[in-house]
Amino acid sequence: MSKVKSMHGMTKVRGCSHLSLGNFCKLFPKLPTWADDFGIKAECEAEEVAAVLGGPGGIMHDANSDSPDSGIPAAYTFFAQFIDHDITLDAASKLHGPELTNQQVDHLPNLRSASLDMDCVYGFGPEANPFLYDQSQAGRLLVGNKDNKNDVPRNKEGRALIGDPRNDENIFVSQMQLMFLRFHNRRMVGRSFEEAQEDVRYHYQWIVWYDFLKRVCDPKIYDYVQTEIKNHSYPKCTITDKCGRLCMPVEFSVAAYRFGHTMVRSVYPANCDYPVIDLFDERFGTLGFSTVPPKLTVDWRFLLDVEPCQDYVKSKAIDHILADELIRLPNPIVGQFASENDRSLAFRNLLRSYVLGLASGQSVAKALKDKGYPLDVNPDLKFDDIPGWLCLEKKQREKLEKHTPLFFYLMREGGVLGEGERLGPVASAILLEVFGAMLLHCKDSILKKPKWKPDPCVAVNKELTLADIARYVNKDC
Ligand code: HEM
Repeated sequence: MSKVKSMHGMTKVRGCSHLSLGNFCKLFPKLPTWADDFGIKAECEAEEVAAVLGGPGGIMHDANSDSPDSGIPAAYTFFAQFIDHDITLDAASKLHGPELTNQQVDHLPNLRSASLDMDCVYGFGPEANPFLYDQSQAGRLLVGNKDNKNDVPRNKEGRALIGDPRNDENIFVSQMQLMFLRFHNRRMVGRSFEEAQEDVRYHYQWIVWYDFLKRVCDPKIYDYVQTEIKNHSYPKCTITDKCGRLCMPVEFSVAAYRFGHTMVRSVYPANCDYPVIDLFDERFGTLGFSTVPPKLTVDWRFLLDVEPCQDYVKSKAIDHILADELIRLPNPIVGQFASENDRSLAFRNLLRSYVLGLASGQSVAKALKDKGYPLDVNPDLKFDDIPGWLCLEKKQREKLEKHTPLFFYLMREGGVLGEGERLGPVASAILLEVFGAMLLHCKDSILKKPKWKPDPCVAVNKELTLADIARYVNKDC
């Protein structure tokens, strides 16, 4: 039986032992908020703007599936969501309410550690969260349940027994969780729990930094950041609280890193027998937080470049429009009494941005430029080309173009400057700033262990990618 050495799963076992749960914060606390710039006097005015842009039938609603595909394999959407659930969880701020002050934002708890430590898989470790672990084989994570051995473990009510409940919010992210549970179990062979966990964490961090971020970020910004890291002049902003703990910037969690919402499709293939299912499919009762029926067990070959001659679906373009499925979120996610607007993820993102006091896209672009990022502070985001834009009242249009809500700005930047294939420079800078800080702040991460390299038995094509993990776990465990 392999031995779990640490005394407290919350510290040693997860790696980055100096990091614990922290709070939210702002990258640029001195900037005026979007609401200040826009002249918002009351919450209802912010709601009105959020509804025009993000409500059902609004500018961000892809009602007719007009958003083209990107070249990014669709599985990365759920990998991106999986990462989100590893690093950020705001369960305290209210969607409807007045704008919070900077001090209130700084006191808002982030219920995930701002660290790529996979707490969504390991929880706080076998001592603190033993229900995640197989009691008969120390160090292995539980996999499967009575209805489907290819699903995450579940209790009698069907609720997933996993490190972060949101990794059961749709069947694809749930199956992504399963992929990493299995990856850990397979890496347990010949290793102690701590060794396996470290090995899994490093492979995961490698994919985040060298595969995922390279795919989704502007190459000029990505290369700039790699050079700045080599020059030891990175990160550019202070992302720590008074106690030296990393905090989670709201510019990232409420705007830039929500870019994955634009990549979501309304329909996906599950496997060969079910090539077209809705993201939330009433026919199978898979409306979120539910058992994955065995017949819908996801075959990643249809969403990822696992095999050379297998066609797979791609993510939707990174642009300003969100799939219909996200504009009409089902009850298990938003509750049965949610209003039409509150069911729309675009609306929620915009209203949450107001409540948390985010600055406008233009202000954040300028602040990043001042930090040294090579980007244009006044790009042409071609607002007039947006379907429905010219139908907005002229005065409102002019104000929105001058003071654009950050989330909308960043997604439009992706659609225009990144041509839907990747994020624009401002969103890329925010992502790299925060991911870079998370990896550099941690004494025990791939950026601090330059000698560590992915196992060639996992990374069969030399460059480790997400497809390697899918291939590797497919073999057994
Ligand atoms: C696949 C379908 C997805 C659904 C249904 C979904 C749904 C949600 C919902 C309901 C929220 C809370 C919104 C609020 O009230 O403010 C949220 C937050 C968030 N989502 Fe998603 N999401 C999805 C995919 C993604 C992806 C792919 C990413 C990343 C690239 C992502 C990143 C985030 C982030 C960063 C938050 C804020 C988390 C926090 O700090 O609490 N989501 N999402």
